[in-house]
Amino acid sequence: MSGTQKIAVIPGDGIGPEVATAAVEVLDAVAEKHGLDLDFVWFDLGAEKYLAEGVTMPQATFEDLRDHYDAIFLGALGDPRVPDMAHAKDILLGLRFRLDLYINERPVQLLHPELTPLKGKGPADLDFVILRENTEGLYVGVGGNFKKGTPDEIAVNEMINTRKGTERIIRAAFEYATRHGKRRVCMSDKANVLTYAHGLWQRVFKEVAGEYPDIESRHLFADVAAMELVRAPEDFDVIVTSNMFGDLLSDLAAQLVGGIGLASSGNIHPGRVSLFEPVHGSAPPLAGKDVANPLAMVLTGAQMLRTLGHPEAAADLDRAVRGALADKQVTRDLGGSLGTKATGAALAERVAKG
Ligand code: IPM
Ligand code: MG
Repeated sequence: MSGTQKIAVIPGDGIGPEVATAAVEVLDAVAEKHGLDLDFVWFDLGAEKYLAEGVTMPQATFEDLRDHYDAIFLGALGDPRVPDMAHAKDILLGLRFRLDLYINERPVQLLHPELTPLKGKGPADLDFVILRENTEGLYVGVGGNFKKGTPDEIAVNEMINTRKGTERIIRAAFEYATRHGKRRVCMSDKANVLTYAHGLWQRVFKEVAGEYPDIESRHLFADVAAMELVRAPEDFDVIVTSNMFGDLLSDLAAQLVGGIGLASSGNIHPGRVSLFEPVHGSAPPLAGKDVANPLAMVLTGAQMLRTLGHPEAAADLDRAVRGALADKQVTRDLGGSLGTKATGAALAERVAKG
């Protein structure tokens, strides 16, 4: 791929700006090495702006992001001064829905043998991806309260499953497997209880699986999938699931490979601007102390580069993170002694020299 690629950086709240700064330094190093032309433009969005001006995502900014950028690189959102997370919901969930980013791609990979809490499992056993449906399900915000605040209150959140939405995420899973040479796709649902909604998922899964005879397909109910992820993670290559189950299963899976300090994610609509964010939050107590771990943000950068068509640069970043973990050139939460800035600088140097 040639030409400039424009990346909007939304550092956000808490530790977001620190990890974003460190990660962009590393991305600059890898871009320089591979001759990539990445143009990072920083956006001031988050709690500070919301508290000062009452705006979360101005319409003009949204259109600018939608029309003029190749990717969005988001740090973290969340601030104790905004307890209902109004701005975070608007920005993060807002971008997922308004940009129709229907694939939430969450890689799960053990980057150092010591990072898993599972006895007897190693890097060869923990290497899969969760593709979470990202625009439907229980996240659509359809519902309401009736007789709110009374003893007779009724609260409803509807779960929306469309034929098109279900089919495109399931197809994305088989396409991902095909592209990455993965053999198995597992779909996870609760069709035994959610007979209508996930009955649809089951029917569509069977249909789409039939188009990919070389890929093994299996189905696990979401509770069983949670159990199997811990018992036999080596049985998974690609997991495809609904919005809410993907949220739960991806946190469980992240913990199998070192926790959310290393978990990256991409919110993707192939061919359109996509949004990349580490799974961890803004960690307000750690903000401004140069202690936050920037590795998830760096790995998120690698995922972004892969999606933007730079697999070699992405592999370089992954390698650098593996090296940093092995040499303990990391922050305290991962057993090292470096600060956020020094971790970023060491990674940038490792990338440049490697
Ligand atoms: C995630 C988060 C979000 C979600 C929250 C912050 C709305 O948990 O990205 O997994 O539920 O999707
Ligand atoms: Mg989550």
